[in-house]
Amino acid sequence: MNFGAPNRAYERLELVPSDYFRHLTRAELPGEGIVPLEIDLGCGDGSFLIDIASHLPERQFLGVERLLGRVRKVARKAERAGLANLQVLRLESAYTIGWILPDACISRVHLLFPDPWPKKRHHKNRFVQPDNIASIKRILSDRGEFLFKTDHEGYFEWVKEVMHECKLLTPLGWEESDFYYPETDFERQWKEEGRKIYRARFGKNLG
Ligand SMILES: C[S@@+](CC[C@H](N)C(=O)[O-])C[C@H]1O[C@@H](n2cnc3c(N)ncnc32)[C@H](O)[C@@H]1O
Repeated sequence: MNFGAPNRAYERLELVPSDYFRHLTRAELPGEGIVPLEIDLGCGDGSFLIDIASHLPERQFLGVERLLGRVRKVARKAERAGLANLQVLRLESAYTIGWILPDACISRVHLLFPDPWPKKRHHKNRFVQPDNIASIKRILSDRGEFLFKTDHEGYFEWVKEVMHECKLLTPLGWEESDFYYPETDFERQWKEEGRKIYRARFGKNLG
């Protein structure tokens, strides 16, 4: 078994922490704490990430995804697109924001079309919970933002309620034309099926 240097070009685009039991230092993160870093939690096949990283080469992007096949797919696509500002981390999202990322290191957190867990008894599994929002607040830099999209009205209402009750981040307006924000593959699919897309944006020390 080879635990040495990556043997395929795209593997260098996978961020592999040297230690999974401490916060990484900024120097260990893409952009080394100097360039704004954005993370996409549950990045799937990376359609959003590849597009936005191509569009904003002055920023760094980190996809977080638990499925190895998807992580590899994103890394391969980024390699083919010649992107130098995108890496992927194969890890669970809550663990990543709770334990791996240091304080105030992220300029934007994207959470796009997470599993809505529609059954009431499963609502506790939804990613947007006060603990995870506290972690998001911790890793966001001053005036950093949390952006959320879903096609599930119930989950959207849930997010508004959790965010209102925990009061950790400030709600911000978000018109489609406000800034460049590519659609994800899921979003395109849902729109073709005529489903409505809900979005919400929150800021740290903003408002
Ligand atoms: C419904 S897909 C959405 C993918 C992408 N955000 C999009 O909009 O196209 C959800 C993705 O999140 C990943 N995921 C779900 N729970 C996760 C977790 N706890 N940690 C990391 N990834 C997770 C899944 O493997 C899947 O790729």
